[in-house]
Amino acid sequence: MSQRQWIAVDEYFTGALIDTDTDGDTDTDNALHAALAASDAAGLPAIAVSPAQGKLLNLLASLINARHILEIGTLAGYSAIWLARALPPDGRLITLESELRHAEVARTNIAKAGLADLVEVRLGPALDTLPQLEQERSSGRAQPFDLVFIDADKEHNADYFAAGVRLTRPGGLIIVDNVVRGGAVLDAGSDNSTVQGTRRLIDTISADPSVSATAIQTVGVKGYDGFVMALVKAP
Ligand code: SAH
Ligand code: DHB
Ligand code: MG
Repeated sequence: MSQRQWIAVDEYFTGALIDTDTDGDTDTDNALHAALAASDAAGLPAIAVSPAQGKLLNLLASLINARHILEIGTLAGYSAIWLARALPPDGRLITLESELRHAEVARTNIAKAGLADLVEVRLGPALDTLPQLEQERSSGRAQPFDLVFIDADKEHNADYFAAGVRLTRPGGLIIVDNVVRGGAVLDAGSDNSTVQGTRRLIDTISADPSVSATAIQTVGVKGYDGFVMALVKAP
């Protein structure tokens, strides 16, 4: 099994099931393609979730009737658009981004997708903006999240996950991207900080009785990688 085959199969399913989605009208589907084109044109890295992964996030948000979604790591807003499209008209997605340029490109893409009223891009390192969200939550100014998607710097994934648990309602879902990285996650002695960050994340989850989690390996246009998915249990 080769990377070429993974890509061909991913593109087959994407062409058949996603680009032709009869639920989405042409304008909104163009918005997803336009977001990637604008991201490339602005020189942002091509590391957004794949179309099939974006659709999965969209379906999961729909399945749990998510009304409040948190994303950590916006980039150009591609995954945010997929997630926000699952929201009802009075829903809200807050997405955290540390790079001004990324946040600007994302805000433009999100507005062009017709989602500006549902999505807030918050600028700043997530280690600063997450405590703000926790304050808003504990003072009753903000609702708990139904779904959290963690996809920023992997070094802080354990901290992001812990904050995500505190900010998520019982029955809510936390998803973390890029936990496999070609199998590198297996290397306990790795000097790669992202591998160590992922392994700290897994240790954190495994020691947390308030969540029930799994990990799913994936192949496709983004190579060999995977997601962690965790259900926040009732207290
Ligand atoms: N979720 C996006 C991809 C995110 S790429 C998508 O699939 O479309 C990771 C993003 O996290 C980058 O834009 C990067 O600037 C941002 N990031 C990195 N470190 C961060 C931090 N400490 N706080 C917030 N965002 C961060
Ligand atoms: C890469 C991919 C990602 O999905 C991400 O969030 C960060 C980096 C990468 O392929 O380098
Ligand atoms: Mg990612």
